[in-house]
Amino acid sequence: MTDFNVVRQYNFPTIIRFGAGAIKELPGHLLANGFKKPLLVTDPMVAQLDFFNAIKKDLAASSISVEVFADIHKNPVKSDVIKGRNAFNATSRDCIIGIGGGAAMDVARAVVLSIHHHRDLFDYDDLIGGDQYVTEDVPYFITVPTTSGTGSEVGRSAIISEDDTHRKRILFHPKLLAKIIFADPLLTMDLPPFVTAATGMDALTHNMEAFLAKGFHPMADGIALEGITLINESIADAVNKPDLASRSKMMIASLMGAVAFQKGLGVVHSLAHPLSAFLDTHHGLANAVNLPYGMQFNIAGFEDKFKRIASAMNLSKQTGEAVVDHLFELNKQVSLPVTLRSIGVKQEHIETLSDLAFADFCHPSNPKPVTRIDFKTLYTTAL
Ligand SMILES: NC(=O)c1ccc[n+]([C@@H]2O[C@H](COP(=O)([O-])OP(=O)(O)OC[C@H]3O[C@@H](n4cnc5c(N)ncnc54)[C@H](O)[C@@H]3O)[C@@H](O)[C@H]2O)c1
Ligand SMILES: [Fe+2]
Repeated sequence: MTDFNVVRQYNFPTIIRFGAGAIKELPGHLLANGFKKPLLVTDPMVAQLDFFNAIKKDLAASSISVEVFADIHKNPVKSDVIKGRNAFNATSRDCIIGIGGGAAMDVARAVVLSIHHHRDLFDYDDLIGGDQYVTEDVPYFITVPTTSGTGSEVGRSAIISEDDTHRKRILFHPKLLAKIIFADPLLTMDLPPFVTAATGMDALTHNMEAFLAKGFHPMADGIALEGITLINESIADAVNKPDLASRSKMMIASLMGAVAFQKGLGVVHSLAHPLSAFLDTHHGLANAVNLPYGMQFNIAGFEDKFKRIASAMNLSKQTGEAVVDHLFELNKQVSLPVTLRSIGVKQEHIETLSDLAFADFCHPSNPKPVTRIDFKTLYTTAL
């Protein structure tokens, strides 16, 4: 039962410029706000792509001095952030633009934090109360998503791993929210099918887990349901025959997923995180494979919510089981695997994975409690 005697806080994000060609506004926006020396933080792949070179050219054509930092790992680590901070300082930059997928935007956000906050980076870990040390100003920060997945562009947190253990740490502070987002679906037109599928299933997981998460947050719930509808009707096209409509729907729905998941995530993200930490599995792929199994676990007791998800997916049978069947089908339509074994998980990994999943920070907001034994059962079923 919802307790209406409680005062709640809802944070909704920032200026979002969304649509084909939005990136063209970047040089004018920088100049209008007095910035002429951005550090562009991206990943080594994106740094080579045509659209990235076009962005650099457009900035240079407006007499903006461009410095690029792209020396980051696929699952970013602390030393990436330190190198980025050094690049910012060595070339006297005046603002930071994160351009890329979640990895690049997370590193950019962590670099933003590190410029005027000089403690060890993980002293700022939100899970150990590190946000209390975020007392200084941060540089002006812009995000430009080029995948449609994490929604990190509207996030206030960065997920950075320890270099040696690969344990994921969370840096969080409202100051780390970008001042403006240029969300241009044209930048995703050539996103390869696998990345489109995996990042898109991550976005679907965000919307579904946010909708199911504990707590009273009808704004997040409404956004999440619409996000589910948009992804459900566009992910297969975005993967198999991309056009502007499918790319645009995926981009806005992934952003919506991240707006919604301020409410919380759940069991699927806790199943997925250890796979990235332990086996370096892509975050979206890890979620995609675990999503149907995690949702099956959540049905009992939450049939009404699953009915609403089924309705958002326009399924003929409006039950949790129909939703789960549809998720398996969706993974197949976008050519993603449906078992953990097919992404390299072995029976002997399950004990360690279960320990890590149980220690993960996402499942406390799952609609029902998840025990270590539940994690083990879920991994075993999904194997
Ligand atoms: N901050 C948050 O709220 C949050 C939430 C979930 C995940 N994450 C983090 O985000 C990361 C995953 O992000 P992701 O799923 O976007 O993947 P990613 O950033 O790793 O990108 C996936 C791949 O796509 C390539 N790529 C990116 N844009 C492209 C384009 N337009 N065309 C062609 N190739 C392109 C990249 O080079 C990379 O190889 C993980 O590190 C995860 O921990 C952060
Ligand atoms: Fe995610």
